[in-house]
Amino acid sequence: MLTGKTILMGITGSVAAYKSAELVSQLVKCGAQVEVVLTRAAQEFVSPLTFASLTGRQTWTEMFAPGPTPIPHIRLAEQAEAVLIAPATAHVVGRLAHGLADDLLTTLVLATRAPVIVAPAMNVQMYRHRAVQDNLERLKALGYHVMAPGSGWLACGAVGEGRLPEPETILAVLEEVLGAGTELSGRKVLITAGGTREPLDPVRYIGNRSSGKMGYAVAEVALEMGAEVVLITAPTALAPPSGAVVIPVETAAEMYQAVLEHFPGVDIVFKAAAVADYRPVKAASQKIKKQGQPLIVELAPTPDILAELGRRKTRQILVGFAAETHDLLDSGQRKLAEKNLDLLVANDVTRPGAGFGSDTNIVTLIFADGSVKELPQLGKKEVARRILAEVVKMVDKE
Ligand code: C5P
Repeated sequence: MLTGKTILMGITGSVAAYKSAELVSQLVKCGAQVEVVLTRAAQEFVSPLTFASLTGRQTWTEMFAPGPTPIPHIRLAEQAEAVLIAPATAHVVGRLAHGLADDLLTTLVLATRAPVIVAPAMNVQMYRHRAVQDNLERLKALGYHVMAPGSGWLACGAVGEGRLPEPETILAVLEEVLGAGTELSGRKVLITAGGTREPLDPVRYIGNRSSGKMGYAVAEVALEMGAEVVLITAPTALAPPSGAVVIPVETAAEMYQAVLEHFPGVDIVFKAAAVADYRPVKAASQKIKKQGQPLIVELAPTPDILAELGRRKTRQILVGFAAETHDLLDSGQRKLAEKNLDLLVANDVTRPGAGFGSDTNIVTLIFADGSVKELPQLGKKEVARRILAEVVKMVDKE
């Protein structure tokens, strides 16, 4: 994973800077090209010569240096595939949180489009200070990968959190960040979303309360993981995620057609749509007039699309979604078996914070081997991430 990657390593003025030499040495051994930037304060603890010796490259310390690269930050920022700041002091965390750029390291962090990992290391009281915690939260909100510090004996004599995490832990995070966005590359994913509409006449239909949010969140996450996404969607009020092939449908029958057409070419199916189980046998060709008498509409069952996929599946991983109002586990397990699924995402739509229209969901994952994972209340995008993470494990096992 690290071979041939250009890693920009920022070292700031914490006593833990001495551990960065080991980290840089391990990165070099893994085949990474490491560009090291030392802040002024870091140079009080460690010498540029240490890192130049380890990397065989110049150690960067100055924003404006005479020589062949007078303003190095733009080139360094563009070449970096990941930026790792370890150790990160309270001061650099504060400057990054506020977008300040008053030295080489902070400037190139603003100039790069590469992911940035921040490994804070400081005294426990400093780490717990509200200002530092607020700044770390701000960094997370800005999309930085903030590591939790290790806990134990600190150089100042105190005991608590604030230690630089061990090199292996930092390297594992770096590998994870570098691998992000490729988990499903080369995989084709079919997702259905929204609630189908079964016409009664040209103006009325039988529908359901599905908002499509869960299916659209799954589509977004699959795209972020590098998958090719076909989104077969019943009507929703949502903007489709860019990058997906979007196929709009209205009825269960149209969804059936579209899904079966695409099924042979895909690797994974997420069947998040709420599909009508019944449709009016006959849709009136003209608007049904009010007659002041009971109106009887005969309904016929629609084909169960997912059950059909379960019968036809060859290599595909099938994920179903079940909205329940009672007997969540029992009926979930029964559906998983009946429809030949690999994973069923069940939710009790009567619980507050779960189900239709809500931005959050509370789901239980039921696996084909009988195991069950209950997830807490989470945003639908985070629920989608957790579901996709499980599916990536299944794909990797193949
Ligand atoms: O049996 P139930 O409708 O609760 O199962 C829900 C799952 O089955 C969902 O994944 C839904 O998309 C799928 N389904 C389907 N075709 C139907 C009914 C449900 O694909 N006609």
